[in-house]
Amino acid sequence: MNKNQIIDILKTQDEAVIQELFKKAYQIKQQHVGSTVFFRGIIEFSNICTKDCFYCGIRKSNKKVYRFSMTAQDIIRASLWAYEQGYGSIVLQSGERSDEDFVEFIEDILLEIKKLTLNKLGITLSLGEQSFETFKRWFDAGAHRYLLRIETSDQNLYKKIHPKGSDHKNRLKCLKMLGEIGYQVGTGVMIGLPFQTYENLADDILFFKEWDIDMIGMGPYIVHKDTPLASLDNNTPETNFMLGLKMIALARIYLKDVNIAATTALQALDPLGREKGLQAGANIIMPNITPVEYRANYLLYEDKPCLDENAAMCRSCLENRISSIGETIGFCQWGDSPHFFKRKNAGKEKEKNPLS
Ligand code: 5AD
Ligand code: FES
Repeated sequence: MNKNQIIDILKTQDEAVIQELFKKAYQIKQQHVGSTVFFRGIIEFSNICTKDCFYCGIRKSNKKVYRFSMTAQDIIRASLWAYEQGYGSIVLQSGERSDEDFVEFIEDILLEIKKLTLNKLGITLSLGEQSFETFKRWFDAGAHRYLLRIETSDQNLYKKIHPKGSDHKNRLKCLKMLGEIGYQVGTGVMIGLPFQTYENLADDILFFKEWDIDMIGMGPYIVHKDTPLASLDNNTPETNFMLGLKMIALARIYLKDVNIAATTALQALDPLGREKGLQAGANIIMPNITPVEYRANYLLYEDKPCLDENAAMCRSCLENRISSIGETIGFCQWGDSPHFFKRKNAGKEKEKNPLS
């Protein structure tokens, strides 16, 4: 598949072509990563943020947001809950902070979770751009994967959706540092942004390949009314949803052995969004395990699902949904990206998973 073919598929409205695309992506998924879905319980533990991204509901200029931060104890409690449920791994996500108090706070939590779960719970971080030293400290404390979305691979588009002084190059530098330190590296983009072209999206797929990315988390862009981008001409949610599914399928076909998440943003636009994501080639789901009382304050975009469900309800609703499409859940496993091991060991060494 070349760039022009990717663009043609992104543009097509032909139902037969689209169904063929999903079928092909699903076959490739089964061949390369199987039909086991891995869970990452995500804890969105604080909405305090030093950044001001034009699309994001918790940007620092949004004064309507009540700012919160869970205590270390609450974060650890939620992590242990995930561990006891057999989730295998968690994601810690928050707004971006780089002050020493924060760096140490995360470091201490990582050490504690690793100790309490005998090193068995996998931990992914999604805490934005940081220095090499910080990435390294957190890696040494036990995190083994890091998600840092590039948001778009196009520098000019990146400038348009971020405040003056934003630095696309620094994101790239961060991805590089994460790889060097030894993290499994995840990135992704928003799909259907204002100003974004089909060519931009095709370049995003090529970017994932060129950068040898292990994990992809991308989803449709959803307008948040209290952000600067809301005043622009935006695609319909239906358009962005379909583009989101096509991007998953194209990434699966083009990259084959990476982990791809069916993100919550898909589910926000369609109640069956995550299942459709799995059927288009995704193999990872990120159930929200943030305690319910905090969720309403962590709205990156509007219409986020599961705001008033507790984590256990989310779990059983997920289990039913996954068996309904004939897939199984990889409980008690890290579910690492096969691509990472190939990248590291040229395919010679098998996954060393302490849980297996
Ligand atoms: N719509 C969709 N995704 C968004 N994100 C932030 N704001 C929005 C939005 N309005 C995504 C960004 C960020 C991730 C944590 O959430 O890609 O990296
Ligand atoms: Fe900080 Fe979105 S702008 S988390």
